[in-house]
Amino acid sequence: MAAENKDKEKNLILDDEREKLLDHEYDGIQELDNAMPPWWLYGFYLTIAFSVVYLLYYEVTGWGPDQHEEYQREMAMAAERYGVAEEVATIDFSTAEILLDEESLAAGRTIYAATTNLCATCHGAEGQGLVGPNLTDDYWKHGCDLESIVNSIRVGFPDRGMPAYGSTVRIPDEELHQLASYIISIRGTNPPNPKAPNMDRAVECVEQ
Ligand code: HEC
Repeated sequence: MAAENKDKEKNLILDDEREKLLDHEYDGIQELDNAMPPWWLYGFYLTIAFSVVYLLYYEVTGWGPDQHEEYQREMAMAAERYGVAEEVATIDFSTAEILLDEESLAAGRTIYAATTNLCATCHGAEGQGLVGPNLTDDYWKHGCDLESIVNSIRVGFPDRGMPAYGSTVRIPDEELHQLASYIISIRGTNPPNPKAPNMDRAVECVEQ
C-alpha cells in the first residue's frame, strides 16, 4: 500500500526533479538537491570576506580599537560631555611617604573616627584596641609600615572579624594615605586601657 502511494507520487514529479531527488524520506516528505539560491550564496561569501577584513583590521594589524581602547574613548567622551571629574588619583603605597603635616593627620583622624568606617568601633577611639588589636603599640601582626597598613585596611581580615575598609565601603587612596599616616602617628601614644598584644602572632614593629 505504501509502496503503491510512493509510485503514484513519483509519477507526479518532473523528470529533471527525479534526478535531483535525494535518497531519503521522512513521513512522506522527500527532498530535491537544488542549488542554493544565489542571494543566499553571495550573502555567505560576503560574510567570509567580511570576517577576513575584520580579522585583519582588529586582530592582526591592531588598527581597530579593542574593547579597552573603546572603553577609554567612551569614558573620555562622557567626561567631556558631562564634565565628570578626573579619575580619582591612585597612589603607589610602596613608595609613598608617610604624611606628617597636621592637616593630613587631622583628616586621617576624622576618617578613623567616622561612623561610616567603623575603625574606632573595633580599635577604640584612641586606637587602644577593643575587638580589634591595639594600633598604638609596637606589636603588629600584618606589618606596621605604610604599605602594610594600607593593605590591611583595603583587604581586611574577614575571617577574623574585620571587613575590608572596616565597613566594606571603599575608601579612596588619598584618604587611605591620610588614615594610614594617622595610625602611624598614634604609635607610642599609650592611651588608657590598652589592649594587650597577642604575642602568639604579633611581632615587634621595626622602625622605618
Ligand atoms: C568589625 C571590627 C573591625 C573594624 C570595623 C575594623 N577593624 Fe581593623 N581589625 C580588626 C581585627 C579583629 C583585626 C585583627 C586581625 C587579625 O587578628 O589578623 C584588625 C586588624 C587591623 C589592622 C592590622 C593590625 C596588625 O596588627 O597588623 C589594621 C591596620 C586595622 N585593623 C586598621 C583598621 C582601620 C583603619 C579600620 C577602619 C577603616 C578598621 N581596622 C576597622 C577588627 C576591625
